[in-house]
Amino acid sequence: MARIVVLTGAGISAESGLGTFRDKDGLWTQYDLEEVATPQGFYRNRALVHEFYNARRANCAAARPNAAHEALARLEAALPGEVLIVTQNVDDLHQRAGSRNVIQMHGALMRACCAACGHVWPAPPIMAPDDPCPACRQPETRPDVVWFGEIPHALDDIAAALAGAQVFAAIGTSGQVWPAAGFAATARAAGADCVELNMERSDISGDFDAHHIGPASVTVPLWVDSLLAGRG
Ligand code: APR
Repeated sequence: MARIVVLTGAGISAESGLGTFRDKDGLWTQYDLEEVATPQGFYRNRALVHEFYNARRANCAAARPNAAHEALARLEAALPGEVLIVTQNVDDLHQRAGSRNVIQMHGALMRACCAACGHVWPAPPIMAPDDPCPACRQPETRPDVVWFGEIPHALDDIAAALAGAQVFAAIGTSGQVWPAAGFAATARAAGADCVELNMERSDISGDFDAHHIGPASVTVPLWVDSLLAGRG
């Protein structure tokens, strides 16, 4: 059971050049999330939704993990079996930085799935509405991401990890989307020390015992160093 549970949001990937959602110029200021991040939007206009994710997939492929992703991978390597990352992000930067114990609760940009048969496979760079599913051949392919109104992945595993965590950290999340927004309060109630690493106070800042304000590429390596030095 992981002793250290880390929740990450779009802010940890901001310095890798991937947009956040709710900052100034965030994705939800450029796109209507109802059109591109709901099942209803997908079935109304599959081409638009595929274009949205094709562009994000290209940005993700061109991006590199930053010092924050790398510090978390270093933490996991130094404390085998003791660290779990629960990310809201659909990019693969944690994995590309070397983290292994990662739950992508909102799915993965680099995976595709079939709405007809449930088959999952590595997403091609460009997806289109008429692509046939590799397994059932039906034209029901979609990005393997969790849209608003759909159930996030691995909630039972996450609940078990929060119940056993001694340290809970939230990095780069505005705390505006549930159920992730409730994780800190759950961990704290179970006895974890909770720390928030963000550019600014968030909607859930009151759920934390400590705050490190600043860019993740600066605050996360310092926090990891303090944990590994036995402080933290
Ligand atoms: N370092 C640290 N924090 C940062 C940085 C940075 N360089 N840049 C931005 N932030 C912080 C912002 O202050 C904000 O609190 O990251 C947070 C980003 O918040 P959101 O854009 O709301 O992203 P997130 O919390 O991950 O959104 C949660 O909403 O739209 C859905 O499914 C989507 O997973 C996403 C979920």
